[in-house]
Amino acid sequence: MHLYMSDHTAAALAHPNIAFIKYWGNRDHQLRLPSNGSISMNLAGLETRTTVTFRPSLSADRLVVNGKEQTGRALERVASFLGLVRGLSDVKDHAEVVSENNFPTGAGIASSASAFAALAVAAAKAAQLPIDAEHVTSQLSRLARRGSGSACRSVPGGFVEWKMGSEDKESYAVSIAAADYWDLVDCIAIVSTAHKAIGSTEGHYSAASSPLNWARIADSPGRLDRCRAAILSRYFEPLAEVVEQDSNLMHAVMMTSSPPLFYWSSGTLEIMQAVREWRLGGLAAAYTVDAGPNVHVITPSESASEVERRLRALPSVTDVLVAKAGGPARLVETHAGVKGKAGPG
Ligand code: PMV
Repeated sequence: MHLYMSDHTAAALAHPNIAFIKYWGNRDHQLRLPSNGSISMNLAGLETRTTVTFRPSLSADRLVVNGKEQTGRALERVASFLGLVRGLSDVKDHAEVVSENNFPTGAGIASSASAFAALAVAAAKAAQLPIDAEHVTSQLSRLARRGSGSACRSVPGGFVEWKMGSEDKESYAVSIAAADYWDLVDCIAIVSTAHKAIGSTEGHYSAASSPLNWARIADSPGRLDRCRAAILSRYFEPLAEVVEQDSNLMHAVMMTSSPPLFYWSSGTLEIMQAVREWRLGGLAAAYTVDAGPNVHVITPSESASEVERRLRALPSVTDVLVAKAGGPARLVETHAGVKGKAGPG
């Protein structure tokens, strides 16, 4: 019997996150079980808000991002995630997903992380998934992981570690320190807002083709320990060293994969070199780069305005976004305007 004859709707908000220790490559691509654990900081102020409505009247899933109806790969990825949710729920209807980002998508600011974290939280609520109250965060983190690996880290708040685990049930993220534990700031130097050519999903497949991949993975437990200890002791210098080394290691794997992936532009390298010089000159700042040309410069809040000023003075920097550590993904009120923005249908 069809139990639900009416619309089921819920909305959620999630922040993107910046990885201090990166996720690159899977042991199991289908389940998105990573080759190594990772550590990140959620980014306050940058947000994805997503409303999910399961509707008996829909004949297919729909996705609207920033007011634009999506087709192709973006829609397929969301539809496949919704299929997973339907499989776990009594709600079998298709859904309309309406999502808004307040930051540029597809440029190495991990929009897939906040997108799938918000989608997981909203869809789980809208589909009334049976989630055990004691393990809400870990279960939603596991679910978000299936949409995009890094999304599992946007579910808990603050500074977060994704424990790789040895199977689906063990692979989720936990908060290692709350957002207000350490006043770190991410100054994101924008070099380009263009959509990246090769997405991270393809990149996770090609990682294993690099002869450097095994070394990066083998050394990851030590980097995770150093990064976690630096966060817990709020000691910037060792954090800076391990964050930059980890970013360089991931890009070394990317550049030596088949086909090789080069996400840096000349501006990216200019910023990385400037940040190292600034640090040698006594300014606490560390760079890290995801799968795009923009550079995330991590700095304690007291140095943030100086870092931002110096970044803006570099010729390749077109803008700087500034984000403190952010909280967890959470349910928000569904608002009347959302349905209207979804367009006809
Ligand atoms: O979650 P994905 O598949 O978008 O992969 C994220 C990969 C990086 O952003 C490059 C690194 C990371 O850990 O966030």
